[in-house]
Formats: sequence, structure tokens, C-alpha cells
Amino acid sequence: MNGTSHQQAGPRTWLITGATSGIGRELTRQALENGEAVAAIARDTAPLHELTEIHGDRLLLVPADVRDEQAVREAVERTHSRFGRIDVVANNAGYGLFGAVEEASDTQARAVFDTNVFGVLNVLRATLPVLRSQRSGHVLQGSSVYGQSAHPGVGLLAATKYAVEGLSDALVAEVAPLGIKVTIIQPGMTATPFLSNLDVAAGLDDYDRTVREVQKGIGELPASAFSSAARIAEGIRTAVDSPNPPLRLALGTSGATGMRAALQARTADLDTWNRVTDAVDR
Ligand SMILES: NC(=O)c1ccc[n+]([C@@H]2O[C@H](COP(=O)([O-])OP(=O)(O)OC[C@H]3O[C@@H](n4cnc5c(N)ncnc54)[C@H](OP(=O)(O)O)[C@@H]3O)[C@@H](O)[C@H]2O)c1
Repeated sequence: MNGTSHQQAGPRTWLITGATSGIGRELTRQALENGEAVAAIARDTAPLHELTEIHGDRLLLVPADVRDEQAVREAVERTHSRFGRIDVVANNAGYGLFGAVEEASDTQARAVFDTNVFGVLNVLRATLPVLRSQRSGHVLQGSSVYGQSAHPGVGLLAATKYAVEGLSDALVAEVAPLGIKVTIIQPGMTATPFLSNLDVAAGLDDYDRTVREVQKGIGELPASAFSSAARIAEGIRTAVDSPNPPLRLALGTSGATGMRAALQARTADLDTWNRVTDAVDR
């Protein structure tokens, strides 16, 4: 389903959102060390100044909030006018909301969709015209183990990542004939500031045995339960280097195990209930 791009011969140009921290920062660092150019999009680009000193003109720092469509358009225009092309779009910016589905307020729920889903759409609407005109490019859609599976406490976060996966399932077929590839990035638990940047919903006692137990469990996980952001970035770059990248790229064994179990549970429902399914058509 993924498109056959006109491969970029020289160094690639990346546009990376959420480039100041965690996975986005590692991706930025590794692409630059590989001799490539990066437009780093972040609300505050100050944490990347040290990379500018090392990599000079190959790093363009563009302050923009992904929720601001106009700011994203201007960031993409600046990137295009500086580098002349965009080869990889990493739709990476995002944050988590933890709490039971019922506990998340309307404001919290809308806010996490604003960044994780509508931010992704802002970036797509701004970059796809460039990729279409080139008839090449690779869009990396920042999802998660929670784009295919969920457990107590992550309902709203998972809702945003499932949304990104759903639109990406259509997008890949829409842009493949235009030479554009799409890969959904699904990291498992990764050692980044993500957990300290979590929004947390107010607690109801009735969810102590589910949501709070999970929260406690996550807090007690050993460091070894988290993949390194550097390894995640290496996995992403391997897919970008491939002539046949996957639509979905799971990164980390425990996340992949969780997603496989969720997929098996879905096919089990289809199999167990197929008589009811088919009876509808008789
Ligand atoms: N860490 C994990 O365990 C894990 C697992 C699966 C998937 N992921 C996904 O990986 C992606 C990166 O997360 P991370 O772990 O690297 O977390 P992180 O270290 O907290 O980095 C998140 C980045 O997103 C940026 N960001 C957040 N809201 C933004 C906005 N409105 N506009 C522009 N930038 C914004 C942050 O910049 P600011 O400094 O401006 O906030 C930061 O640079 C996220 O989409 C996350 O859902 C993470």
C-alpha cells in the first residue's frame, strides 16, 4: 500500500514536531549526525540551541505550537524556502492524559485531542502540498502501543492515538499513488519526560482498584521496562531508510506483545460471534 517515492539522492530534509525532547530530540540529533537537514518544530526551541552550534545551517529552529494552524503553515513555508524540499515529516509532538474515561474533564479530553489529533492534521494539511508537488516523501505518524491496545487509565490517550491510526489507514491509500509513504510509529514505554509531562484526571474512589492500581504499577516499573529514545529513533530511521517501509512499526517488545494480544482478542470476537455477524445478511 505504501507509495513508490522518487528516492531523494542527497541528504534528506526532515521536519520534526516535538523536537526538543524525548523521541523527537533523538530523531533530530541522529538525522543531523547522519549529515541530514532538520527543521525542528517546537513551542520553545531554546533546548536545541546547542545542536545549532554543532550542526549550523543544517538545523532550522522553528517555534510553533502544533495546535496553531497558521503557525504550522508558516513553519512549513520557512522549512521549504530554506531547504527547497521536505523528505520526511515526523508528526511526533504529543502528550498523555491519565485517568479513567469518566474522570477526564471535557476540557482535558478536548485539549489532548487538540494536540495529538488536530495538531497532526494541521501538520498534514501544511506539508502534504509540498510532498504532493515533489511526488515523494515519507510521513511518520506518531502513535503508540496505545494506538492498538489500551488498559485502565489510558482511555483518552488511546482515543487520540486510535484516531491517528484510523486516519492514517486511509491516508496511506490516498497518497501512495502520489509517491508518498506513511508509517505509523508505535513505541512502547520509552524513557523520556513523557510521564512527567502527563496530564492527570481527578480521582474517583471507584477507580482505585483499576486506574490507580495501574498508575501505581507504572510508577514502580524498573528502568529496564523502558526502551531508550535513542533506540526508538534508530528503529524509525531504519524504516525511513527502507525502500519498503511498513504501514505500522512497533518499537519495543512489551508494546508489541500487548498489541498482538489486542489484535488476537479482536479476531477472537469476530470468530466467536460470526454466526450473529452473518445472520444479519440472511
Ligand atoms: N515515552 C513513551 O513512553 C511513549 C510511548 C509511545 C508513544 N509515545 C509518543 O511519542 C511522542 C513523543 O513523546 P516523548 O516520549 O518523546 O515525550 P516528551 O519527551 O514529553 O516530548 C514531547 C514533545 O512534544 C512537544 N509538544 C507537546 N505539545 C506540543 C504542542 N502543542 N506544540 C508543539 N510541540 C508540542 C513537546 O514540546 P514542549 O516542550 O513544547 O512541550 C516535546 O518536545 C508522543 O506523540 C507520544 O505520545 C511516547
